[in-house]
Amino acid sequence: MGIRIAILSDVHSNWPALQAVGKHLPNQSPDAIYCLGDIVGYGPDPQECVQWIQANANIVVRGNHDDGVVKVAAGQEVVDHNHIAVLAMMKNLEKLSKDDLAYLGQLPYQMFFETINLIISHGCIHEPEGWDYIRYPQEARGQMQFMQTRFACVGHTHQPTIWTGSNSPVRLSYPHEPYKLSAVQKHIINVGSVGQPRDRDPRACYVTIDFYQRKIVVRYHRVSYDIESTIKGLNQMGMQGLLSRRLGLGI
Ligand SMILES: [Fe+2]
Repeated sequence: MGIRIAILSDVHSNWPALQAVGKHLPNQSPDAIYCLGDIVGYGPDPQECVQWIQANANIVVRGNHDDGVVKVAAGQEVVDHNHIAVLAMMKNLEKLSKDDLAYLGQLPYQMFFETINLIISHGCIHEPEGWDYIRYPQEARGQMQFMQTRFACVGHTHQPTIWTGSNSPVRLSYPHEPYKLSAVQKHIINVGSVGQPRDRDPRACYVTIDFYQRKIVVRYHRVSYDIESTIKGLNQMGMQGLLSRRLGLGI
C-alpha cells in the first residue's frame, strides 16, 4: 500500500478555482494535502484562499508572492516582481487580516520528507528563497545536483512538467495519463497552477502522487471552474486587462 498526497500550488487568490479543486479533491481520497505556495497575489480573493489552505492543507511552503505580500506589509522593498504583480500584492494586502499575514509570514521555504524520499519548495531546490525558475534542462540539471532525495515537487512556473534524470534531464509536459516514475533516477515534478495555469489550458491544475517503496505514480488533474466569476472580481479590484485575458487563455 502506498500513500497518496495531493499537491497544489500557485492558487494566486483565485477563490472560484480553489473552490472547484476543493470539491474535486475528496474523490481522489488523498492521505494528505500539500501546498507549494503563492496562495496570494494576482487574484481578487486572497483571504478566502489563505483561510482555506490554512484549514485544509497539512503542509504548506512559502511562495514568492506570499513572501512579497509579507514584505510589503512590513514596509520592506520587494524586488524581482513586475509592477502588475506588486500592484496586485498591494491590493491583496488590503483584504488580509493581521492573522492571515502572520500565517503567511511563518511559512517555511522548504520541507523534506525522508520516508517518501521527497523535498518540496516553491520555485527551486537550492536556496529556495532565491526563487529561481526550473524551465530548461540546464536549470533542472543544476537543481538536481543539490537534491538529496529522488523526488522533488515545485510550482512557480505554472507549467505542469516532469523532469527526469540528473545528467541530461528530459522534460515531459503534462502527461494526461497516470505516470510511473522509478526511484532509480531523480525527478522534479512541477505540479502546475490552481489559479493561473500557463500551459494554454485554463482549467485549474493539481496533482496526486502515490508513493510506494521504489516508485511513485503521478496523476495530473484538470478542473473547470467559473473563470468569469474570477474576472468579475479582478474588474472590481481594478485589475482587469492582462490578468483577465491570461486566465481565459491559460497563458
Ligand atoms: Fe506563482
